[in-house]
Amino acid sequence: MGSVETGKSSRISGFHKLSPADRLKLVQGFAGLDAAAAGHLAQPALDPHLADHMIENVVSAISIPIGVATNMKVDGRDLLVPMATEESSVVAAVCNAARQCYDAGGFTTSVSGTEMIAQIQLVQVADPQAARIRILERKTEIAEICNACDPVLVKLGGGFRDVEVRVIATQGGPMVITHLIVDTRDAMGANTVNTMAEKLAPSIERWGSGKVYLRILSNLADRRLARARATWPLEAIGGAAVRDGMLAAYHFADADPYRAATHNKGIMNGVSAIVLATGNDTRAVEAGAHAYAARNGHYGSLTTWEVAADGGLSGTLELPMPVGLVGGATKVHPTAQACLKILGVQSAADLARIIAAVGLAQNFSALKALATTGIQSGHMALHAQNVAIAAGATGEEVARVAAVLVERKAVRQDVAETVLRELRGKA
Ligand code: MEV
Repeated sequence: MGSVETGKSSRISGFHKLSPADRLKLVQGFAGLDAAAAGHLAQPALDPHLADHMIENVVSAISIPIGVATNMKVDGRDLLVPMATEESSVVAAVCNAARQCYDAGGFTTSVSGTEMIAQIQLVQVADPQAARIRILERKTEIAEICNACDPVLVKLGGGFRDVEVRVIATQGGPMVITHLIVDTRDAMGANTVNTMAEKLAPSIERWGSGKVYLRILSNLADRRLARARATWPLEAIGGAAVRDGMLAAYHFADADPYRAATHNKGIMNGVSAIVLATGNDTRAVEAGAHAYAARNGHYGSLTTWEVAADGGLSGTLELPMPVGLVGGATKVHPTAQACLKILGVQSAADLARIIAAVGLAQNFSALKALATTGIQSGHMALHAQNVAIAAGATGEEVARVAAVLVERKAVRQDVAETVLRELRGKA
């Protein structure tokens, strides 16, 4: 992505106070969306025929709100980030964290590459160590078989990169596990590497003298890491006490899997929201993230937090990010296409980098809230509106009932029903 100055600022004050239509107009101008994309976002219906081609037994589609995070500066470029989520506070959390590190330069990101791994499981091998070497000897043929599966990918600079073979001990005896390392470039690559693994399986059986069962990608995509870092100045954080509380929260998460699961869930609130908005596979990214968090034999934090040289807070996030721009829902879903246009990304690597920045921002805000006021006060304002709607409030009643719930510090449906009855009684 590099350091690009577009001259456009993502610091848009009062964005949250606009109507959805006015926000969309602003986003359209910022991102240069064409009328078709903007029109689709304004009326985001999924064509039933398209849905019917995406999955089986289609009867309907579910709409999830897409909010746009402001204030994001990633590698010198100001961005508006579309996020699809049903959870209140997630978008606001990113806006706030991004605002607080904007003047310090925002987020710096990178990727380790765009390589995916496919696994081939070989069992019933008399001499597993020798089988391992026999398979490794065939690297040239393996490359040819794999690359023949996807000449277009090879033309685009991707394709087979390497083969690794391990002998693992299992309850069922030793297994010879072959890893195909494939650069899938701008595709997430699941179909590509699965096809290669299936094509190669008979050869692996011959060379290894055993039986192949599984031929499938690994979601622990640790050859496709996205990384983000940022530093928040002490005054932006709110002082040393807040900073130290946030550090203590991070130390807690990294030491205790019960806390780490929640800490990382918060990170994934941001990550999955943009993965979903761009039509990518949320489960693949989630599985990879949590497996990566346990890579050292202990499930810990996906982020790190340290005191920066100037006394501020320095945060990093590193996690597998198997996302693509071509293939799958990303290519056919008009909402996903519009979201990619808003982001203005040119490659899957660009998208992965932005997602990492959003995950780090999310974690910053969660830790800050948890170390200070707690998350409920911020959460409750919007949650109260959901509760009011669930209790039957409509139109202007929603805000009025929600305000009473927050004021009474009782955001509950039974209370909302009572408040609504009182309100209607008065009317
Ligand atoms: C809620 O969806 C996410 C948090 O629980 C994350 C965290 O605890 O770090 C607030």
